[in-house]
Amino acid sequence: MSSFDDDLVLNGDILKMIGDVTGVEIEEENEMDHKTLHNLLANHRGVCDDDEEEDSEFKDVVVGEEEFKIKLICNEEIPSTLFAQYIWPASKVLSSHLLELDLPSSVLELGAGCGLPSMVMCRRGVGRVLVTDFPHPILLDEIEQNLARNCPYKDNVQITGLLWGEEMGEKVDMVIASEVLWLHDQHENLLKTISSSLNPLGTCLIAFSHHIPTLEEKDLHFFHLAREGGEFESVGEVLREEVVHPFSSHKTTTIFLFSMTKK
Ligand SMILES: C[S@@+](CC[C@H](N)C(=O)[O-])C[C@H]1O[C@@H](n2cnc3c(N)ncnc32)[C@H](O)[C@@H]1O
Repeated sequence: MSSFDDDLVLNGDILKMIGDVTGVEIEEENEMDHKTLHNLLANHRGVCDDDEEEDSEFKDVVVGEEEFKIKLICNEEIPSTLFAQYIWPASKVLSSHLLELDLPSSVLELGAGCGLPSMVMCRRGVGRVLVTDFPHPILLDEIEQNLARNCPYKDNVQITGLLWGEEMGEKVDMVIASEVLWLHDQHENLLKTISSSLNPLGTCLIAFSHHIPTLEEKDLHFFHLAREGGEFESVGEVLREEVVHPFSSHKTTTIFLFSMTKK
């Protein structure tokens, strides 16, 4: 298994993202260890706070008529810079969209975090639901508990560590992901995993928002790479939705949903 330190470096874009989330100005050359970062994010509204009652770690989320009780992933052993500790609005937009679609027979979620879209697919009765995230055992254990809590009939569900760039070793009809495009140096790896996991004519749905002003084109470059690679067709936006900003109830943010089909 790859270690976090080897695979996720605190590069400039990640530090800018942390600055955007917390409102704290972070200079790129700042030396910040993962523990300091965890505390910085933990003190920020929306992330679990050790001083609050245990129950506050649980969030009630409603998608359509489905209700979910999700435990935020707050274990300090899990690197905060994975940003798995929030239920990002993009995952809710993606989840709502999944309620409307014809059921695929199998689905793979990448960078699942709390795994809300996978939970929706389980509830809808998809035959095979593969829930994956960074191969960190505690993170995967937290995801497993959330799935078990919300999807009691879970024989059809598998939770696995999968580093972007690796092959899943099993093909599916649909790949889903939310908020995975902000790590620009991972775009090629993501495409590799998506392409090698999809059956011909399978669909990939990706929901995201632009987190760092001026880096919008870098986010969208992922779809340019997908078109250029020639393995996908109909790469494009299917919807966009204005939602309340995750860190300020006075602001909104735009969530984009893109789809691409494997040739
Ligand atoms: C911003 S969070 C989004 C979580 C969730 N999809 C959501 O929208 O609420 C990014 C997710 O990608 C995962 N991740 C980051 N880098 C990864 C990598 N190289 N390979 C696999 N997963 C990764 C993180 O652990 C985290 O769960």
